[in-house]
Amino acid sequence: MCPFIIRPLLFSLDPETAHHAVLNSLQAAHALGLTPLFAKRPAGNPRTVMGLTFPNPVGLAAGLDKNGEYIDALAALGFGFIEVGTVTPRPQPGNPKPRLFRLPGANAIINRMGFNNHGVDALVENVKRAQYRGILGINIGKNADTPMERAADDYLTGLRKVYTHASYVAINISSPNTKNLRQLQGGDELDALLAQLKAEQQDLAELHGKYVPLAVKIAPDLDKEQIQQIAALLMRHRIDGVIATNTTLSREGVEHLPQHKEAGGLSGAPVRDKSTAVIRELAAALQNTLPIIGVGGILGGADALEKIQAGAALVQVYSGLIYRGTKLVAECAEAIRQAG
Ligand SMILES: Cc1cc2nc3c(=O)[nH]c(=O)nc-3n(C[C@H](O)[C@H](O)[C@H](O)COP(=O)(O)O)c2cc1C
Repeated sequence: MCPFIIRPLLFSLDPETAHHAVLNSLQAAHALGLTPLFAKRPAGNPRTVMGLTFPNPVGLAAGLDKNGEYIDALAALGFGFIEVGTVTPRPQPGNPKPRLFRLPGANAIINRMGFNNHGVDALVENVKRAQYRGILGINIGKNADTPMERAADDYLTGLRKVYTHASYVAINISSPNTKNLRQLQGGDELDALLAQLKAEQQDLAELHGKYVPLAVKIAPDLDKEQIQQIAALLMRHRIDGVIATNTTLSREGVEHLPQHKEAGGLSGAPVRDKSTAVIRELAAALQNTLPIIGVGGILGGADALEKIQAGAALVQVYSGLIYRGTKLVAECAEAIRQAG
């Protein structure tokens, strides 16, 4: 991404200001037809996952384009798929700023954005306007002020509204920045939520004559027993995929940095091994019954390949783009392609 060439300048800005500056300049560059100058399109390496054909296995993770405002510009960077959101039924401002922190000493980010977004209706309008015809995941969550006992209603509303606009729908139950959201990963809560989502998916598939897969996004902060319980529920409810993982609450590896005391989810290099361990454990439990999308701490081709070797069918990147720039996409795709 051309703005990434001027990293020292960007890193001197407040991170959230830099985030918008990068995306707006990417959009402007795309409008001028300049994106091919700084993004090498990866060689094709198609694979069919969740019944969808991905041109290459490297995707953009959720949270970079929460409202689906930059889909066409991001698509020009060579991703095999793009996930937008997390979006909630109603618009909400998210947490007070500052809420995004760079930890350059560790190639890491801490965020406590709190699902700042313009609401699902605005996202759907943006998706409708986009020219992109590739694989688009839409990631849905719950509003902060919806009581936990009504959480399923928010996911069902989101699912109904995005259903015909998405290639797949990601169910985010693992953000650490919405109070108690991660409780939904617990046995009884998850069982009930997945039952409702699966029933709704079946109704929607019949209504629209189109089956849209569901992928559940989980946290890295789970022990073996929890991972096995989640895997059993995903299989029992015939969920189509699992995205592992979201950001971590752990501060392992960054305790020496001043920003480590900031509340929120840690991403980038320090979450890499935790995320890979979850993928490995999931893969053993799932036995290829449903595919894993691996995400967390991919900063180079070798990291992407490690996720695939641990059992992921596809990978996604976010923090690595901030530290490595857009060349990361082709680098990861190439490492996976060469490994066959
Ligand atoms: C600033 C920021 C915002 C994020 N927002 C979301 C989000 O809205 N929904 C979501 O599912 N994940 C979100 N994530 C998590 C990423 O999608 C990804 O799972 C996590 O950062 C680990 O990958 P990484 O180490 O490549 O960044 C966010 C991450 C960051 C850094």
